[in-house]
Amino acid sequence: MIRQSMREITLGLPIHGKHNSCDPGKTFLWALMDELLQRRGGELGIDAACDYFKNHHYFRTREYVGVDHNLEALRRGARLHPSGRGILTRLEDFQPPQGCADVIVSTHTLQYLAPEARLQVADALANALTAQGLLLVQVPHDEHAPALVRRLQSHFQRVDVLYIGNGLSRLCTRLFTKKGIFGRTRLFNSRPVLALARLIARTEARTWQRPGRQTRVCICCTLKRRNSPSEPLDLRRYHEIEPNIFQRTHAPTASENTL
Ligand SMILES: C[S@@+](CC[C@H](N)C(=O)[O-])C[C@H]1O[C@@H](n2cnc3c(N)ncnc32)[C@H](O)[C@@H]1O
Repeated sequence: MIRQSMREITLGLPIHGKHNSCDPGKTFLWALMDELLQRRGGELGIDAACDYFKNHHYFRTREYVGVDHNLEALRRGARLHPSGRGILTRLEDFQPPQGCADVIVSTHTLQYLAPEARLQVADALANALTAQGLLLVQVPHDEHAPALVRRLQSHFQRVDVLYIGNGLSRLCTRLFTKKGIFGRTRLFNSRPVLALARLIARTEARTWQRPGRQTRVCICCTLKRRNSPSEPLDLRRYHEIEPNIFQRTHAPTASENTL
């Protein structure tokens, strides 16, 4: 359980060389994720739309399962992190058992889903979390974000909403965006620029509470309102299509069907 307030956590956030992006908002998000997940052990962590198990190194759960609809990305993830396992599915079709995961993360992904599908996926992820688990969802700060926040508030007693990407961060990303593409500039990813981005990332700790023109919303949810029995995610019910990559072959169980 997160006992400290989010304000205390963000003000003391260690932002160091592990969190390296020329985008200060991303740097801040990575540092936050690192800090929150460090406090969360437990059995299972799910990375919803994981690409090549990109968030794997933040998880401290005993098991890591990454879900994505891109087989090539899962293959790469399984090669890079042999302890992790992948499930090949669209998020819209992923209905894990209730209370199966202690930590669930979904970053830079739900925006690719239709607005109604985002809410359904949010329901499925909330259902899959243990009563004391942590769900962290990050989406763009767009017109659909408030509905997602409200939906998550209906599932959780504690929902911290962080607005990330303040004016300084946006200025920094603009400097490194050329012809609409971030990173197409000479000094991109140079040490001084990464250090500058980390400095600017620290300012996010003082601005996240005010929804202004920030570009990202990070929603941290704990303490489920409805405490229902837990059921494990049993990968034996899936077909192992490649080493450590699974695909669903069975009909949903009763608890997966409760949505
Ligand atoms: C921008 S990447 C984000 C990866 C990682 N979560 C991160 O924050 O770096 C988006 C990922 O979402 C996956 N994705 C997009 N739509 C999806 C869907 N409907 N179901 C499952 N995965 C999806 C893509 O294959 C890709 O790996």
